[in-house]
Amino acid sequence: MPQVRRCVDCRGDVGEGVLSVAGTTAGVGVGASRPPGNVADGTSGPTGAFPRVAGTVHAERVPLPEIAAAAGTPAYVYSTGAIAGQYRALDAAFAAVPHRIHYSVKANGNLAILRLLQSLGAGVDIVSGGELFRALRANFTGRDVVFSGVGKTAVEIGEALAAGVRLINAESEAELQIVNDEAARAGVVADVALRVNPEVTVSTPHPYIKTGERGNKFGIAYDEIREVARRATRLPSIRISGLDMHLGSQIGGTGPYREGLQRVTELFGALVADGNTHLEYLDVGGGLAVTYDDERAADPVALAAVVTPAVPAGVTLVLEPGRYLVANAGVLLTRVLYRKQTGGKTYIITDAGMTELLRPSHYSAYHRIEPVVARAGGSTVVDVVGPVCESGDFFALDRRLDDVVPGDLLVIYSAGAYGFAMASNYNARPRPAEVLVDGGRFAVVTTRETYEDLVRHEQPTLAWRGA
Ligand code: LLP
Repeated sequence: MPQVRRCVDCRGDVGEGVLSVAGTTAGVGVGASRPPGNVADGTSGPTGAFPRVAGTVHAERVPLPEIAAAAGTPAYVYSTGAIAGQYRALDAAFAAVPHRIHYSVKANGNLAILRLLQSLGAGVDIVSGGELFRALRANFTGRDVVFSGVGKTAVEIGEALAAGVRLINAESEAELQIVNDEAARAGVVADVALRVNPEVTVSTPHPYIKTGERGNKFGIAYDEIREVARRATRLPSIRISGLDMHLGSQIGGTGPYREGLQRVTELFGALVADGNTHLEYLDVGGGLAVTYDDERAADPVALAAVVTPAVPAGVTLVLEPGRYLVANAGVLLTRVLYRKQTGGKTYIITDAGMTELLRPSHYSAYHRIEPVVARAGGSTVVDVVGPVCESGDFFALDRRLDDVVPGDLLVIYSAGAYGFAMASNYNARPRPAEVLVDGGRFAVVTTRETYEDLVRHEQPTLAWRGA
């Protein structure tokens, strides 16, 4: 994919952002020339969970200004109904085969969201001891957990085995050895799936979210799997129980899944032929795309049509969706601090920044932005930026936006996945509040951090060691 931004300074003239340069990809940039926020037509954002009613954006039935008044800004706001709707649609689409939906906690590990998904029947896909801790705290059991990740420590593996996780997705032969050792120590036999790098070329909106191509750090090389599995049969405390792949993220079509599955099911057959009798799981990972702007979201029914015929009889399909379940169920609510004109450009400076939502800065990701309360009047091409002392601290470049003024609330859509989860304390900024909405009611599920929180782990007096 072409680089969507050449550099921060090469903006071009107002209205011709860096993303209008030749060779950029539509729908992935932060500042491509687009119609103004679709306030006038009464719709709002790429999802129905945040309707504009009488000019004001609501989360389900709660007006966003009410939430801003109660929780302050910046704040993440999530819709229970949107998460449940996505979960149910996916679950129903795969009804034809035994399947398990393991929500990828990394997308949004908030305990209230985890509890909601647990109540709907989901399992979880975790990548760290911390995510295991979160999952257990949210009432998941070990059997609800698959453990993925390219750099699991022996301690984390030990914790996972102690919790009785269903499956460990192993990413190297060295990891298999450690799982074996930890399982022996714990007196258990660990169920392990081998993560195959299917070496499928995928088109994701940013190279950082590709994972299943040849040469990246994830998984075991396709042509090494059979040999690794053979050697693994000599490890007495592990059992090869499945194969796993993850192609990448924000994949709209079914083609890469078809291709990846073809390769993985071929291997599945080979492992059976080699005498592996415990193959119970086929894990196809996550990656289902959502609509941020005008991209086509993954269609669970179309995906199921490709995936389900590939599932061998008696085998349980595992899915690890993150973004698909939560991205469009969340928004970031922020207030305009300043409207500033300098160097021929207009800047809208908000109280949220890259510390709250890193995606635009880190992946050149596009998120729709609108005023919460519709404004009569004009619109201007602006940069929407945060207060952080970095030129890369922006939400939108050269974007046409209704003429908002200081004090106005803005809603940044599609922020439910990899939003709060990637938030930081850079510039000593406390992380924001999170709010869950359910119909006409809402609850603060994470309180805003305090200044005290910022220094909580730092020692007031130093306990020097050594000479
Ligand atoms: N399974 C594995 C092994 C993964 O590595 C991931 C995501 C998922 C499942 C869930 O993928 P999803 O369904 O959410 O696409 N921070 C980036 C996305 C990084 C994804 C990392 N792995 C972003 O904001 O776009």
